[in-house]
Amino acid sequence: MERGISISENKLADLISSAGETQAELFKKAHDTRIKHVSERVYYRGLIEFSNICRNDCCYCGIRKSKDIPRYRMSPSEILEAAEIAVNAGVSSLVLQSGENNSKENEEFILKVVKDILDSFPGISLTLSLGELTDDTLEKLYSLGAERYLLRIETSDPELYGKLHPAEMPYDKRVGRLEKIRSIGYQTGTGVMIGLPFQTPESLAEDLTFMRDFDVDMVGMGPYIPEEGPSGLESRYSAEERLNMTLNMTALLRILMPDINIVAATALQAIEPFGREMALRAGANVIMPLITPGKYREYYSLYDGKPCAGEEAQDCLKCITGRIRSAGLSPAPEEKGDSLHFQKRTKRF
Ligand code: 5AD
Repeated sequence: MERGISISENKLADLISSAGETQAELFKKAHDTRIKHVSERVYYRGLIEFSNICRNDCCYCGIRKSKDIPRYRMSPSEILEAAEIAVNAGVSSLVLQSGENNSKENEEFILKVVKDILDSFPGISLTLSLGELTDDTLEKLYSLGAERYLLRIETSDPELYGKLHPAEMPYDKRVGRLEKIRSIGYQTGTGVMIGLPFQTPESLAEDLTFMRDFDVDMVGMGPYIPEEGPSGLESRYSAEERLNMTLNMTALLRILMPDINIVAATALQAIEPFGREMALRAGANVIMPLITPGKYREYYSLYDGKPCAGEEAQDCLKCITGRIRSAGLSPAPEEKGDSLHFQKRTKRF
């Protein structure tokens, strides 16, 4: 297993807030590490946000249960059509994401959709991002052939986690789900939001340590985007600070865990038009083109100013390829792009 260098939490906290020359050096080191361990290739994950129905009420989230927004769930044939667009464009890896819905009916729905996709497009790899599912559902989905699961820890600070989530969502349960996901055999992904209310550089340093100690295979972490208006929880940090902290966290994680997959967070683009390119230059090696049909995008607004709202799958695929090239890296949509870390961890390599 590729172990990165070890950096003390104090030093990590300093580097998370760094700017100027120190930051430029950090990005250079992260980029060199990335080229050495995971090459110049950037993998694609075509993202289908198939439903915004959610039973949780996380106070930062634009699709939380108490928000009065139109709710949708795409039909199985709409989901297959969306998948087909991505596959025809040469994308070999898809992500199915939705709000958390543990009803029996929805479990059957998800099982059917996963089976349909894997039957229709043999050879593609599927990542699920469906929240805290039961052992039984997670196991059934894995047996069908879903290989990867993403569940952000959101913050590894139990106290902060408690402030942001309802009592029905205890921190320990979140960690327990992540452990279960890994023990079933999924390539396991997690991540955090950066610049949350009450969050400090020290707490973000602990997030990095959490991810390293948990030995995750993939990470997606992006800036917190506060909601406009009276119900919005303000960040202590300006947009520029959140951009910088996210890029610094990305670079540090690449140095700490050289062979994992790290996403250039879509949310970066909500605060800086070239935010994703900047993350690709700071160690990120995965990007998620949005495949959700245009008509549903406005209802899956996890945060204000989410990019690509008025576009369709083809627009996003084209645009992403340009973004990767402009960052001086190689688009690799056709590669499944398994986490090298996972392959080594499970000795499949
Ligand atoms: N700002 C940034 N990211 C957010 N998410 C939810 N709400 C916000 C927000 N306001 C992220 C969470 C979740 C992912 C799907 O979207 O981290 O896990």
